[in-house]
Amino acid sequence: MTAKESLDPVISAPMHRAMEAASFIRQMFEEGNRLRAELGDDAVFDFSLGNPCAPPPESFFSALRTVAGESSPADHRYMTNAGRPDVRQWLARRLSAEHELDITSDHVVMTCGAAGGLNVLLKSVLEPQDEVLLLTPYFTEYLFYIQNHGGIPKAVPTQKSFQPDPEAFRRALGPKTRAVIVNTPNNPSGVVYEPALVEELGRLVDEHSERMGRPVYLFMDEPYRRIRYVDTPHPSALLVSRNGIIVTSFSKELGLAGERIGYVVLNPRIEGVEVLFGALGIATRILGFVNAPAFMQRIIPHCAGSTVDLSLYRKNREILIDGLTRAGYEMPSPDGAFFLFPKAPGGDDRTFCDALKKQCVLTVPGSGFGAPGHFRISYAVPTERVEKAIPLFARAIDEFSD
Ligand SMILES: Cc1ncc(COP(=O)(O)O)c(C=O)c1O
Repeated sequence: MTAKESLDPVISAPMHRAMEAASFIRQMFEEGNRLRAELGDDAVFDFSLGNPCAPPPESFFSALRTVAGESSPADHRYMTNAGRPDVRQWLARRLSAEHELDITSDHVVMTCGAAGGLNVLLKSVLEPQDEVLLLTPYFTEYLFYIQNHGGIPKAVPTQKSFQPDPEAFRRALGPKTRAVIVNTPNNPSGVVYEPALVEELGRLVDEHSERMGRPVYLFMDEPYRRIRYVDTPHPSALLVSRNGIIVTSFSKELGLAGERIGYVVLNPRIEGVEVLFGALGIATRILGFVNAPAFMQRIIPHCAGSTVDLSLYRKNREILIDGLTRAGYEMPSPDGAFFLFPKAPGGDDRTFCDALKKQCVLTVPGSGFGAPGHFRISYAVPTERVEKAIPLFARAIDEFSD
């Protein structure tokens, strides 16, 4: 029986398609497991997973103790779907000061990570067949999130540097466009978008909303916002577009990916923002999240101002950029997140990832991120693994060009 025949009676056709689409990362994962079983853990250099490895800061562990000590039974019940009012108020005060806008707790929705936030937003605004624009390269999971809610993902090319290309973006806007997801710092490229270009996208989105007579939303997906190695300011989604919305989480900045805690900030300037806020609450409920994890919501204010120690990522990034550039790899300036996205020598990303695999180095082909001809290296790994892998990256490119 083929995999297809065995799956079809068991699961739905759309789920079958989703499993096939997800298989390029899974294949790498399975290949990694196979190699580890055959050669031992130390022989395999796995740069395929974007799993943050910098530990949470000390403030998180002390908050765990404090909050556990203060717990009363009521703290563990269901709550308003949007999340605890005290935590939303606390966030709203900080966000108002940061963005110089009047943000209240009724603009903030606590979510199960940025992934939960995006799903809740898309559920709330998409009509069937509405288009959602994605700048290439994009986080693969967006395709699933958009399809979850009947939308159509539409890839928009960027510049060679992977900075947004406002002209290509303008051409991609159409009658079906309902939203755009802008992700900076970017997964998979590590590129930090120039604020002026994001402002330009915001202006185009607002003009398009005006023309269409319905809001076109700009979702700024920014879970890597505090994982940056340059000083350029981070553009405010709330200021660049009147329909700009922030989606973020503590997965990367506090190293809490497994705790599933994040939030959405609605723009107070959205016409009918109170209706959208109500919809997000219901979407949180009917998607089965019900509310973001109660305990984690209480932890977050105690971690104000802390982030993971960036020195691990910074060091890995420097070693890789230096080692790979010397070996002849080319990549756009990776100023944020923990990814590099070099050009695949020879031009075919899958073939080159196979060549790396022969050296026991696991990476992900760019085709899965809408950018064939590149491949992703995640450097959220111990530095010792990065150091040992540099000669293997060098050998792969040498053997490939022979
Ligand atoms: C660009 C981007 N957006 C969203 C997410 C989802 O993260 P989380 O739901 O853990 O906040 C990720 C996770 O890797 C990501 O890379």
